[in-house]
Amino acid sequence: MTSSTYNFKDYIRVISDFPQPGIRFKDITTLLKDGDVYRAAIEQMRAAVEHLKIDVVAGPEARGFVVGAPLALALGVGFAPIRKSGKLPGATITASYDLEYGKDQLAMHTDSISPGQRVLIADDLLATGGTIATSINLIKQLGGEVAGAAFLIELAYLTGRSKLDGVDIFSLMTYE
Ligand code: PRP
Repeated sequence: MTSSTYNFKDYIRVISDFPQPGIRFKDITTLLKDGDVYRAAIEQMRAAVEHLKIDVVAGPEARGFVVGAPLALALGVGFAPIRKSGKLPGATITASYDLEYGKDQLAMHTDSISPGQRVLIADDLLATGGTIATSINLIKQLGGEVAGAAFLIELAYLTGRSKLDGVDIFSLMTYE
């Protein structure tokens, strides 16, 4: 099958009341386990962001790694991990952020992005936008230019997009 023939939502498993009552969790593992669909999803994202002339992809752990790293390879560029505080061994900068459910802190190595580089942020999910807004903050602190953001899934009803004013956003799937 070619990428254009997949309905990617058919490969997302929706699990009710996880991790809290009332949340309808979008489980991407059912997409990831199918190599052809996973490859097609990454290829479609690559094609959508190719024109942005990206120098490096940055992705927040953990699910941002399974989208960001293959997307970086597909684009022919490197990958900069955005990790929860205390995980990166070198010199870091950190920033706090709110999750759809909870709070945490993100960190990047100070040398993970060079000033002036065009950065694409990649993640599995755009929900409230807190994770990506904080990622943008970190990238800007390092002198990077946020050229775009790419997601497997956007939960439009949580309006995360409104926190990413001016950023070119691509979402493979949108839930209204
Ligand atoms: C999830 C998801 C996104 C973020 C989206 O990550 O993978 O990174 O939340 O939510 P937001 O737009 O409201 O910030 P999580 O922090 O649960 O970490 P994980 O990938 O390690 O499960």
